[in-house]
Amino acid sequence: MDTKVFDCAEQALPRVCFERPPAIGLILGSGWSQVLQTGQAYARVAYADIPGLGAGAIAGHAGELVFFERHGVRVAAFMGRRHWYEGVGWEALLLPVELLRRMGVPRVLVTNAAGGISPHLQPGSLMIIRDHINVTGINPLAGPVVPGWGPRFPDQSRLYSPELSALLHRAAHAAQVPLSEGVYVYAPGPGFETPAEIRAYAGMGADAVGMSTVHEVTVANAAGLQVAGLSCITNMAAGICGPHLSHGEVIEQTAKSAPVMSRLLDAFVGQL
Ligand code: HPA
Repeated sequence: MDTKVFDCAEQALPRVCFERPPAIGLILGSGWSQVLQTGQAYARVAYADIPGLGAGAIAGHAGELVFFERHGVRVAAFMGRRHWYEGVGWEALLLPVELLRRMGVPRVLVTNAAGGISPHLQPGSLMIIRDHINVTGINPLAGPVVPGWGPRFPDQSRLYSPELSALLHRAAHAAQVPLSEGVYVYAPGPGFETPAEIRAYAGMGADAVGMSTVHEVTVANAAGLQVAGLSCITNMAAGICGPHLSHGEVIEQTAKSAPVMSRLLDAFVGQL
C-alpha cells in the first residue's frame, strides 16, 4: 500500500474536516448519493481535487465529498466510490476509509446496490448487511501491515456492528421503511455473475450479491471503526428471473426507491 497517496489526499482537504470530526462517515454506492439530504454543507471537495481518488466514471456515483450537519450530527459523505474492477489500485478504493480514520471519525455506513438472491428480497427491498462472503480471493490487508490498520490477523467474527444495525432498524421503524437483514457476497465484477455462480452463492448462504463494499468494510473494521452496511436490491440476480441484467436497470430501480432510501438515511443520521 502506498501510504504517501493517503498523505497527499489528507493535505488536499480543508482543515475544518479535521478540527471538527464528523460523528459518522457515509460511503455511498450506486444511486445513494442522489437521495442524501444534506441541507447546508459546511465543506465540499470534488473527487477530482483529491489526489489519488480521482473522478470515477460510473453512472450513479456523484464524485464529491460533502461535509454537513443534520439533526445536530456532523456527517462526512463520500458520494460515490471506486471499484476493484476499475483497475485504479487499492489506494483509490480505500482512501475514503483512511481519510475517515485520519479525521477521527468513529463509525461508517457503507451502502451499495445489489442483486437479490434470497426469495425474501425483491427489487426495491432495502437490506442491512449482517455479514459477508468474499469470493474474490483478494483482500486489501494483504501485503505489509499498514500503520493504523490494526494487527496482522484481524478478527472477522463481528464485522458489522450490532449497535449500528439496531439504530438502522429503529430508524426504519420511525421512517416506516421496510428493512430486512442478510448476507452480502462480494463478486469481483465488472461482468454480472453467471446463473451457476448465483446458484453456488445461494448454497453458500448469500442473500444478495454486489461488486463493492467488502474491501472498505474489511479495512474499516481492522482500523477500529464501527461499521454498518446497507444494500438497495435493484434486480434479482442472474438466472433468478429475466434473461438480461444491466447497469441501467440498477440506476432505474434506485431512482424508483429514492424516497425510501432518502427517508431511511435521514432517520438513521437522526438516531446518532
Ligand atoms: N450483481 C452484482 N452487482 C450488482 C447487481 C448484481 O446483480 N445488481 C446491482 N449490483
